[in-house]
Amino acid sequence: MGAPESSGPRVILCGVGGVGRRVTRLLSFRPGYRIVAAYTRNRDLAGQDLGRLAGIEPNGVIVTTDRDAALRQPADIVIVATTSFLRAVAPELRAAVEHNLNAITTAEEAAFPWLTDETLTDELDQLAQDRGVSLLGVGLNPGFIFDALLLTATGPAWDARRIRIRRVVDVSRFSATIQRRLGIGFSRERFEAGVRAGTIFGHIGFPQSFHLAAKCLGRTLDDYRKSFEPVIAERPFSNDFLTVQPGQTVAFIQRDEGVIGGEPWIDSEFIAFIDPSAGDFVAQDSISIQGYNPLNLTIRPGCQPQLGSAAMVANSIPKVIAAAPGFRTVADLPPLCPPPTQSDRLAEAARNW
Ligand SMILES: NC(=O)c1ccc[n+]([C@@H]2O[C@H](COP(=O)([O-])OP(=O)(O)OC[C@H]3O[C@@H](n4cnc5c(N)ncnc54)[C@H](OP(=O)(O)O)[C@@H]3O)[C@@H](O)[C@H]2O)c1
Repeated sequence: MGAPESSGPRVILCGVGGVGRRVTRLLSFRPGYRIVAAYTRNRDLAGQDLGRLAGIEPNGVIVTTDRDAALRQPADIVIVATTSFLRAVAPELRAAVEHNLNAITTAEEAAFPWLTDETLTDELDQLAQDRGVSLLGVGLNPGFIFDALLLTATGPAWDARRIRIRRVVDVSRFSATIQRRLGIGFSRERFEAGVRAGTIFGHIGFPQSFHLAAKCLGRTLDDYRKSFEPVIAERPFSNDFLTVQPGQTVAFIQRDEGVIGGEPWIDSEFIAFIDPSAGDFVAQDSISIQGYNPLNLTIRPGCQPQLGSAAMVANSIPKVIAAAPGFRTVADLPPLCPPPTQSDRLAEAARNW
């Protein structure tokens, strides 16, 4: 369903955690954009005003746990910001499509969903095509650094013989759930046991970005390797969400490799920290494309994950509404860009994000 000519997109939120609240703030500064409903599984949040929850003035949108009631509101698109896993967001994507709504999800596995579950993705893709709407998995990463930006950066390359990426990221403003799932706040033994047991994931979504990049650059990865190295706190450290004691993980270094013919073709070093002093960490992103005419790209300071992800979601909205129906990736979309905004108020609202 396309946006009406006379006004901007009408948005429904599924999930009102960090992403949902930041998108609420950001869209409140965009003329024409309207959030018309918001729903969550969290009963403690039901009945609250979404604007107030997001730290801005009340906007009259009352958060509900009733998905059907929310999806019955006339709208153009649903933003699903709940969890990282395709199978967990699939019922929300299906419900949106069945209401003839486009949908964006920040679930990392949805950035290239065929990798996790081809059958489920094909089913959602077909359903979206039948209903004439589009689905997209997007955020900052996956969604930008390791895929949209990387692919754009290969534009002037004669070849992309080898790709190397490095990100150093402050993850201290993610919720406690996310920081713990990443691997922050554990003793070394519990960190290593959690990695082995699959309860500590590190950053999710690199395989999706790597496979998408490989597909766009005409390659197929035939192996994938991943390793972790915990960084242990020597002093206590607290943020708004978590307290880490000496002897617990305050950062970690994750290395991923996408392999072709036994050799890494793409690799990344991802350092996630909450206390910069634990390793003299400075947020920074870099991409190196090696080949006939090499290209080295550095972003300093690195992209701020919360602001960047909220912007990627918000800036995707008109592109997803206009996209060809089906399950899309960022590689199918034109470059994302923000509309003009009342920047003086935006600066005020961006504080403490
Ligand atoms: N691609 C990217 O670059 C990118 C960027 C940002 C975020 N993400 C991902 O997007 C997701 C949301 O991020 P966030 O920062 O908003 O997280 P958050 O602050 O933890 O909020 C998530 C909200 O969704 C709810 N929720 C969690 N699992 C759910 C499920 N299975 N079904 C329904 N609701 C569920 C939570 O409810 P409770 O309060 O009941 O727990 C919470 O209210 C995370 O998985 C995150 O990793 C991806």
